[in-house]
Amino acid sequence: MNRIAVIGYGGQGAWHCKQLLGSDVATLAGTYDIREVRCDAARESGIFVYESNDALLADPTVDAVVIATPNDSHEELVIRALRAGKHVICEKPVEMSVASFDRMAEAAREAGRLLTVHQNRRWDVDFLAMKAIVESGEIGDLIDIESRIHGSRGIPSDWRCTKEQGGGMMLDWGVHLIDQVLQIVGAPIEKIWCTTSHITNSEVDDGFKLEIYFEGGKSAHVEVATYNFLAMPRFYLRCKNGSALIEDWRKNAKVARLTAWCEKDVTPVQNAAGITKTMAPRDHLTLDTYEAPRPASDVHDFYRNFCRAIAGKEEPIVGLSEVRRVMQVMEAALASAESGQPVCTRI
Ligand SMILES: NC(=O)c1ccc[n+]([C@@H]2O[C@H](COP(=O)([O-])OP(=O)(O)OC[C@H]3O[C@@H](n4cnc5c(N)ncnc54)[C@H](O)[C@@H]3O)[C@@H](O)[C@H]2O)c1
Repeated sequence: MNRIAVIGYGGQGAWHCKQLLGSDVATLAGTYDIREVRCDAARESGIFVYESNDALLADPTVDAVVIATPNDSHEELVIRALRAGKHVICEKPVEMSVASFDRMAEAAREAGRLLTVHQNRRWDVDFLAMKAIVESGEIGDLIDIESRIHGSRGIPSDWRCTKEQGGGMMLDWGVHLIDQVLQIVGAPIEKIWCTTSHITNSEVDDGFKLEIYFEGGKSAHVEVATYNFLAMPRFYLRCKNGSALIEDWRKNAKVARLTAWCEKDVTPVQNAAGITKTMAPRDHLTLDTYEAPRPASDVHDFYRNFCRAIAGKEEPIVGLSEVRRVMQVMEAALASAESGQPVCTRI
């Protein structure tokens, strides 16, 4: 069993501690937080609290460290942990720029230690369902994908609303949705176009709409919003031979598979003030509709893979080249939003 310690006992640090307490591959060594109130909270939960980050990093029984602090502190803490000889799980986003990521990756190489990023939403069943539909080819080749997450409470009022600490929805939720889309569409990116919204916060984005154009013609729309009192569907997929939709991440995917393109006759539908055949819904004669099975998922697989990767038994599921690519997309997206122009690129 690997002994893992957690730096930062806020919302996400506490989540990691809970997972590690129930892990079958690792044990929780302890935690440290710069706020005494959070150290007290950890002690109340029966968790060992180190005196400082230095004390935690100096513990020779600790194999690996989770960094669960605000985004602007990741680089310094990750590099310190690597130089102390620890393997590191860094919370997402890895940092706030590609340059910062590169320094962290270089420190991992120099130290000969494993660095990975907690892209835990690769275990979301809605994402896994979409990925399975695309990979199975059951509705043909992908044309485009839309991935949205809509909330209605604005941006949280903690460090997430400050630019200095790496706030904003691009870095908070965008990092998950972009990572997921890049797992589904395996082609180089040629163009990025993004707009951000600032309804509840002027300093950082409280949402964005991002278009990603891939080589070969596929595209993705990624959208995060925090001022939507009715949410649009979580995922929408168009493929050459059908469509798939997930209305809400608690629901299964609905699939419509084309069984024949041509129809003998289409009965026109009365629509608003006119009739249409073009937009008339198809029926069972040319369309097979069904619910996709719910994929199995276990978040503990992240730690299982991490421990096997430390032992050199497998590659980390979240590889550094993937982490860098997501950071590149976010950087290009924010540059596009800033300039009001699309960014032509090769990512
Ligand atoms: N993967 C996910 O699903 C997920 C979910 C939420 C947050 N996160 C990420 O986790 C990180 C933390 O977010 P959070 O929601 O827990 O924030 P939070 O504000 O709840 O907790 C952060 C904690 O870090 C502590 N801290 C700050 N600097 C420190 C330092 N130098 N040493 C020790 N402790 C320090 C703070 O006192 C605070 O208690 C962020 O990077 C965030 O993006 C990931």
